[in-house]
Amino acid sequence: MNWDKKDLLGIKGLSREDIILILDTAESFKEVSQREIKKVPTLRGKTIITLFYEPSTRTRTSFEIAAKRMSADTINISASTSSYVKGETLKDTAKNLESMMPDVIIIRHSMPGAPHMLARIMDASVINGGDGAHEHPTQALLDLFTMREKKGKIDGLNITIIGDIAHSRVARSNIFALKHFETKITCSGPPTMLPPYLEDLGVKVEYNIEKAVKNADVIMMLRIQKERGGISYIPSIKEYSTLYGLKASHLEKAKKDVIIMHPGPMNRGVEITDEVADGPCSVILDQVENGVAVRMATLFLLAGGDG
Ligand code: CP
Repeated sequence: MNWDKKDLLGIKGLSREDIILILDTAESFKEVSQREIKKVPTLRGKTIITLFYEPSTRTRTSFEIAAKRMSADTINISASTSSYVKGETLKDTAKNLESMMPDVIIIRHSMPGAPHMLARIMDASVINGGDGAHEHPTQALLDLFTMREKKGKIDGLNITIIGDIAHSRVARSNIFALKHFETKITCSGPPTMLPPYLEDLGVKVEYNIEKAVKNADVIMMLRIQKERGGISYIPSIKEYSTLYGLKASHLEKAKKDVIIMHPGPMNRGVEITDEVADGPCSVILDQVENGVAVRMATLFLLAGGDG
């Protein structure tokens, strides 16, 4: 199967076959990062820009590493050091960057739909690095890659997602992706953080965390999205942590070989204890490692096909 899309704007719009193609491609690129010389010529001569209007450690860095490992030229733009602070609009910024002939732009923005607007006005491929509470497609793809790597499959898994689902683009993209597979998805958190659309998507809602983790193959923890007002949806952090923080005792209710995931950044002591985050079931740093392979795959599929 061939990739025929100009952009990667969300998991919505991808088929099961598209997702599997990206995961299979990432599998073939993962080995590059384990070589002594971590470089292949695949994207030589290509120019890749990261344009981030929100903070990032993992996404921006792993896109840059992915591009460099494929010999592309990379430029990183942060809103705080760009002409955005002088009042330039996103559209004008995009038009000006387009004049410099980039091949791929990765954008993170607080406004849902910002990557879609760029994709409409630019010839360059656009990748959504996270748009508000809308989507974070490459995070979901690296999460599925990690599930498949650790469990040998995605079909048949019981996946529990706990936290501030209402404000989480990671949860939305994961749910959209996992619905292409025969998975059982359960979401848990305070009622104010579990949006009504979950049940429409066929996701089970369970307010009691002990019940939510029962028989889980995968537990995915999410932080409270303070930057999207998440904190105002709960009475206190202490109460949230008591009721919805993942503790070692919860793991006894899950499957014996449960894996614990978190997209990062973690708020240790709030949604997850140190014991769980750093324990033997945690695959949190594997997710970060796999992020490079998945982002190499997306850059290759979008920009690598025409030599
Ligand atoms: N998971 C994730 O998007 O992390 P960053 O915000 O550090 O990019």
